Amino acid sequence: MPKPFDVIVLGLGAMGSAAACHLASRGTRVLGIEQFTSPHDKGSSHGGSRIIRQAYFESPDYIPLVLRAYELWRKVEADTGTKLLHTTGGLTLGDATSELVSRTVAAARAHSIPFEMFDVAEVRRRFPALEPLAGDIAVLEPHAGYLPPEECIRAHLKLAAAAGAELHFEERVLGWNAADGHGGGHVSVRTVRGTYEAAHLVVTAGPWANEALAGLFPLRVTRQVVAWIAPRGGVAPFLPQRFPVFLIEQGSARGYGFPAIDGAAGGMKVAVHGSDEVCTAGTVDREIHPADLERIRQTLTVRIPALDGEVLRAQTCLYTMTPDENFILGAHPGSAGCTLACGFSGHGFKFAPIVGEVLADLATTGTTAHPIGLFDPNRFSR
Ligand code: BEZ
Repeated sequence: MPKPFDVIVLGLGAMGSAAACHLASRGTRVLGIEQFTSPHDKGSSHGGSRIIRQAYFESPDYIPLVLRAYELWRKVEADTGTKLLHTTGGLTLGDATSELVSRTVAAARAHSIPFEMFDVAEVRRRFPALEPLAGDIAVLEPHAGYLPPEECIRAHLKLAAAAGAELHFEERVLGWNAADGHGGGHVSVRTVRGTYEAAHLVVTAGPWANEALAGLFPLRVTRQVVAWIAPRGGVAPFLPQRFPVFLIEQGSARGYGFPAIDGAAGGMKVAVHGSDEVCTAGTVDREIHPADLERIRQTLTVRIPALDGEVLRAQTCLYTMTPDENFILGAHPGSAGCTLACGFSGHGFKFAPIVGEVLADLATTGTTAHPIGLFDPNRFSR
C-alpha cells in the first residue's frame, strides 16, 4: 500500500521550511511538523536580520554552497515576489594579523570573490563613524548584506504549501522511528495529534536537536543576546545606503552588526558572536541583564564609539554549536530512514535554501552533487 507521505520534515524553521519547499516542488508528498507557529522567536531564526557574505573565512568549503545559496535566495524572491536579500556590502575589520581579516582575504582570493582592502586612513574616509585602531585593515565585500529571517521562512513555507506540502503547526512530536531506508522505507512519527507514516524522515530541529536526536551529537546550545542601540549622534552615518553589515575582531571577541535598516526608530542591531552560556531551548534565561549589554558595548564601542547610545531593546537567541563549528548534514548514522541537519553553530541561516536543496537530494536519492564532506554526521556521533 502506498505511504501517505514520501517525506516527513520535523521542524519548520530556517532549514525545515527550505527542505519542505525543495521536496514539495519536486513533486514529493511532504508533511512538515512544527511544535510552534513558524516563524517564532524561541529558536535561532528571529530578530529581523542575518548576515550573508561570500568570503567565508570559516572554511573555503562553504564558498560553493554560499554561492548556490545566493542563486536560490534570488529564486525564492522571484517565486514569491518578495525582496529578501538586501545587499549593503560587508565590512570585516580588525588587526591586520587577526584570523578574521587574514582568512577573509585568503577566502576571497582563492575563490575570486570581489573585495576591497582599506587601511586605517581609508576606513575613516569611507566610514567616518568608524574609529579603526592603528594596525587595522578592513575588507569590504560588495555582495554581502542581510536577510530578514522571518520573511525568508514565510517565503519558503508559502512555496512549500503552494507546491502541495501539508504543514502542521503547534503540533509537538513525541517520538519517531526511522530504521528503514529510502524509497521503499518506512518511518513513523508520533505527535500529540496522531501517528504519521512516510518513506523517509528529515530532522531539522534547530536548538531542539539534542532532544529530537536523543543526544546523538555533542551539541552545545548557547544563549546569545542581541541589542538594538540608537547610535549617539543619530542614525544618518549608519543608514544602509552608506553603512554595511560588519564583523569586528576585538581581542578574543568578535562583534557584529547591521546598518540602521529600520531607520531612526529602530537603531542598529549589534551583538557578540558566541558565548559560554550553555543552556537548552527549554531552560534558556530570556531576561536581559546589564552584563549582557556591557559585553556588547565593550566589544564594539572601541571602533564604533557612537554605539554607547541608548539601548532600545534586546532579545535572546540560541546557537547550536558543534565542537568544530561546522554544520552536521547527512544521513543519520544509526537510522537509515532519517536524514538530518543540525549544529549550525551560529552561522547557518544564510545557507537555508542550499541546505533545503541538499536535504531534498538526500531524502529522495540518498546522495547529492553538492560538496558536503565537511559536514559528515559520522565525525561526532556517539
Ligand atoms: C554570519 O555571517 O553568519 C555571522 C556573522 C556574525 C555573527 C554570526 C554570524
